[in-house]
Amino acid sequence: MQNRVLTLDEFIFQKQSVVNYASGELSGLLRDIGLASKIIHRDVNKAGLIDVLGDAGKENVQGEGVKKLDVIANDTFISSLRVSGQCAGVASEELENFIAFTGSRSERAKYVVLLDPLDGSSNIDVNVSVGTIFSILRRKTSDGPCQLEDFLQKGVEQVASGYVIYGSSTMLVYTTGHGVNGFTLDPSIGEFCLSHPDILLPSDGSIYSINHGHRWNFSNGVKKYIDHCINSAGDRDKPYSLRYIGSMVADIHRNLIKGGIFMYPLSKSYPNGKLRLLYECNPMAFIVEQAGGRANDGQTRIMEIDPYELHQRSQIFMGSPKMMDKLEQCLKVDYVTEEVEG
Ligand code: AHG
Ligand code: MN
Ligand code: MN
Repeated sequence: MQNRVLTLDEFIFQKQSVVNYASGELSGLLRDIGLASKIIHRDVNKAGLIDVLGDAGKENVQGEGVKKLDVIANDTFISSLRVSGQCAGVASEELENFIAFTGSRSERAKYVVLLDPLDGSSNIDVNVSVGTIFSILRRKTSDGPCQLEDFLQKGVEQVASGYVIYGSSTMLVYTTGHGVNGFTLDPSIGEFCLSHPDILLPSDGSIYSINHGHRWNFSNGVKKYIDHCINSAGDRDKPYSLRYIGSMVADIHRNLIKGGIFMYPLSKSYPNGKLRLLYECNPMAFIVEQAGGRANDGQTRIMEIDPYELHQRSQIFMGSPKMMDKLEQCLKVDYVTEEVEG
């Protein structure tokens, strides 16, 4: 008998025994995130038919125009996590401050969740893949409402992280520190089914992903790496390709499967980088490292950066180790301090 597909819930339950401290709460939390993702899948896939396109007519804490689907996704996740009983609170790209859930179950919950409820919002109205990014931390405070310190933890403290990509199919990809597994939503049965077990990112690749339009703004080291990609066509069996979707989730997912490097460097418009450390860089770095890749800010491993505020940004380079080696070699020019004449 053809072995049946394994659903996300069954997989989580099976793996529960190998995850430290696994007494079912983390499994329950992952299932709640899976449920919210199915609801957003439904709204994203009808985006053109129901009133979810376009701007919500407000700005978020980042001062960025908020799309209606950003708000819907944010509200959907918060509602699902509020009733989970496994989540003490949520920090989100769409909320200035975190939310501490009240009620005895939530106040005794072990975990907090950090969210980019809808990543790549600028692509919604043009029907290009968007995503959700989540990061799960074990709270540091004990009972009672969660506190800011529960969220301001290094990426190495994550107990789980993942993303959902709403693309040609909807996939949920996550890690609990024991490898990376991908699940494809089968809308006919409403279940995420294991489709990409033990994802490993190719050690080298020929895809570099960056917003070339900001090139004039980049450091000499980043420009040096881009020139390497452009000019080395001749001495490689496969020249590099530039692929940039504008949704971090989609660009990273492609690189995870095909190999590649994703870069969002500092620029004059984003002097600290654009992407947010706690709910974009850290969760994606956890996934990339668990799949055999590397993620840093040019000098420091992303998951070692000590956070000081919820929405802080970071420069980020992540992907196939051999491509990261070459990039880091090029970036040295940015960090060499002038030899002081004796
Ligand atoms: P979000 O929609 O959550 O604000 O994230 C958008 C991010 C990220 O998904 C993507 O890699 C990057 O913005 C694209 O930025 P540019 O359009 O400046 O290249
Ligand atoms: Mn984002
Ligand atoms: Mn977003």
